[in-house]
Amino acid sequence: MKILAIDTACDETSVAVTTGRQVLSTAQFSQVVLHKQWGGVVPIIAKRAQEEHIQPTIEMALKRARVSLDDIETIAVTFGPGLAIALGVGIDNAKELATAHHKKLIAINHMEGHIYSCFAQNSKGNPDFEFKFPYLVLLVSGGHTELVLMKDHGQYEVIGKTLDDAVGEALDKAARIIVDEMVYPGGPIIERLALQGNDTFIHFTRPMARSNNLHMSYSGLKTALFNTVRGMSDQERVRHMHDLAASFQQAAFDELVMKLEKAMKKYKIYWVVMGGGVSANIHLRKMVRKLVQRYHGKAFFPTSPKLYGDNAAMIGVAAHFHAQRGDFVDTIDSLERNARAGL
Ligand code: KG4
Ligand code: ZN
Repeated sequence: MKILAIDTACDETSVAVTTGRQVLSTAQFSQVVLHKQWGGVVPIIAKRAQEEHIQPTIEMALKRARVSLDDIETIAVTFGPGLAIALGVGIDNAKELATAHHKKLIAINHMEGHIYSCFAQNSKGNPDFEFKFPYLVLLVSGGHTELVLMKDHGQYEVIGKTLDDAVGEALDKAARIIVDEMVYPGGPIIERLALQGNDTFIHFTRPMARSNNLHMSYSGLKTALFNTVRGMSDQERVRHMHDLAASFQQAAFDELVMKLEKAMKKYKIYWVVMGGGVSANIHLRKMVRKLVQRYHGKAFFPTSPKLYGDNAAMIGVAAHFHAQRGDFVDTIDSLERNARAGL
């Protein structure tokens, strides 16, 4: 069964053709260049760009997979969480396609997609491994920071999350404080700067280190960085950009990894899945791998660089397991976006 998957959760127009866990093709229009000059995603620009690019992106994905709509059995689309007016574009197009071509429709949670990015295979079926539940999942994106227990396909329990900002959001803000008010996205910039920085230059308190629960927090860390930089001259800030980035990044990731370890011990689960845009960070993946190795566990990350950030392939892979459970949208009209959908 071939699935045409669509994700328009935020600032990427993304379409993929998948079958089972295999990704047959992907096509993507990234709006980063459009939002960059504003220092973040501008909703109305995102909506217009989604509308403009959705049709050609669908056509491109089909062409790259060398299939036509006749070969597609099911349309899968992200219903949330995300930017409401951007989500709406993908949903409207999915509904139109499903109606006009008599296809079944599956609605997928964007964060569930990020989990399945770690289980996606290329068109040759690699990497090939069996599922072994339960998994401990760490979701790290621009809008979410969550620890999730995945007991089976479609069975999730959120066991910890950020009490305020998401880790990606914190990195984006940090880049604005350290580098320039108008940079976006900040995560990759902080990663690059941190490579040549001293991460002990400033010791930021790890906000939730003393708490016994599995929640995280980033707003205090951001304020601490802001106050540190405010106390510096412009020259000092520029001279220590790398050190500031390295110190902040280390504190932000310690917060994650500390809570991940706590969850591993509490639930005695050592198979860890990490998805979402921040999983692109090599240093974070190293930290998680090292932790998991200490417990003789296994770490699963998005299976290709294309799957780190927002993409539709992960939506198609997640949809395959919904299809196996017969979890289709009942009536096409009933599908609505849910910008704040939880797992
Ligand atoms: O999953 P994603 O692409 O979109 C959301 O669903 O939010 O995540 C975007 C986030 C942004 O905050 C971005 O700065 C961050 O992922 N990010 C990174 C890296 N690449 C993207 N953070 C740290 N290191 C990176 N290399
Ligand atoms: Zn995302």
